[in-house]
Amino acid sequence: MLINISKKDSNIRVLLGTLLVALGSHSLWYLLIPAGLMLIHTGLTSKCPITHLLHQETQEAKEHLFVNFLPRYNPQPVFIFKSDSQLAFSNKPAKKLFPEVEKFQDLVRTDIQPIINQELIQRSKLTLNNGCVYSLVIRGSIQLDGIVVYGADITEIVALNQEIIETQKEIVYAMGEIGETRSKETGDHVRRVAEYSELLALLNGINKDEAELIKLASPMHDIGKVGIPDAVLKKPGKLDKDEFKIMKTHAEIGFNLLNHSSRPVLKTAAVIAYQHHEKWDGSGYPQQLTGENIHIYGRITAVADVFDALGSARVYKEAWPLDKILELFKQQRGVHFDPKLVDLLLENLPLFLTIREKYPN
Ligand SMILES: [Fe+2]
Ligand SMILES: [Fe+2]
Repeated sequence: MLINISKKDSNIRVLLGTLLVALGSHSLWYLLIPAGLMLIHTGLTSKCPITHLLHQETQEAKEHLFVNFLPRYNPQPVFIFKSDSQLAFSNKPAKKLFPEVEKFQDLVRTDIQPIINQELIQRSKLTLNNGCVYSLVIRGSIQLDGIVVYGADITEIVALNQEIIETQKEIVYAMGEIGETRSKETGDHVRRVAEYSELLALLNGINKDEAELIKLASPMHDIGKVGIPDAVLKKPGKLDKDEFKIMKTHAEIGFNLLNHSSRPVLKTAAVIAYQHHEKWDGSGYPQQLTGENIHIYGRITAVADVFDALGSARVYKEAWPLDKILELFKQQRGVHFDPKLVDLLLENLPLFLTIREKYPN
């Protein structure tokens, strides 16, 4: 049974019990002795079955129990919720930071019962109106028949993390643009390819984190072009057989540039750089992979890259009209491109066009 009497109540019970025992042993009211002993017992153990049966565990008693488990002057918010979701206790920082919280669902939109029954430990993140971010550790307890929530201010950590991600993105785009400007692409090409790739990944059922990784990595698909001589890269006309052979090495050069890193973004970028010119029917390069042997990252970026390159004007060519681009994708479905990805592109075309409008050349 839960400790259900506060320290103050316990002391009163011990005192009262002792008085009853003393009174009982000096008079004819012998029955007072067992009653007194019982009171002393409940006082010493801080457990009273009658209070428990009457469900009269007071808030004070709960504070007494749980505050004992906390550092006395804990500067972080702490809450205790009963199994009916109502707030049973909150410390001063909790009251100050979250004055509107009255039940568990005001804090986290989760069903409370499974957390208690399975004594789960869950984490959640909460952003306040003032921009502060709190990490909440939620612990269910059968003994307590409730939930304890410990908060921690992680605003600075989140900001630092965001800073790292933003820096990474900028470097990645800059690297991607180096590859593209070496060839004849324009700056926004890599941004559009990034967004098309993320969208295709999500539509294809890839989870959010992995899709974000593909988005970050895909701008570097042509980074290997830094290793292609100007004579080939900037040749105005069509490449001859030998020149095209040199041009094709950009896939492997890119792979070798990126593959040494153990960072997930660069590992992903290495796969994309290596495989974005492979074709579904095996007629691509550099490894002539076929079908699903081509990594999904490579297949996704292939669709995104070609969709964008055709739709953009270059010094040497006009932008293709949309119906001509779609015609090509229908023709190349299962030839150049993964048929499923082409279907996703065609079925969700408005979403792709929104991205195109977002980054006009
Ligand atoms: Fe390429
Ligand atoms: Fe490209």
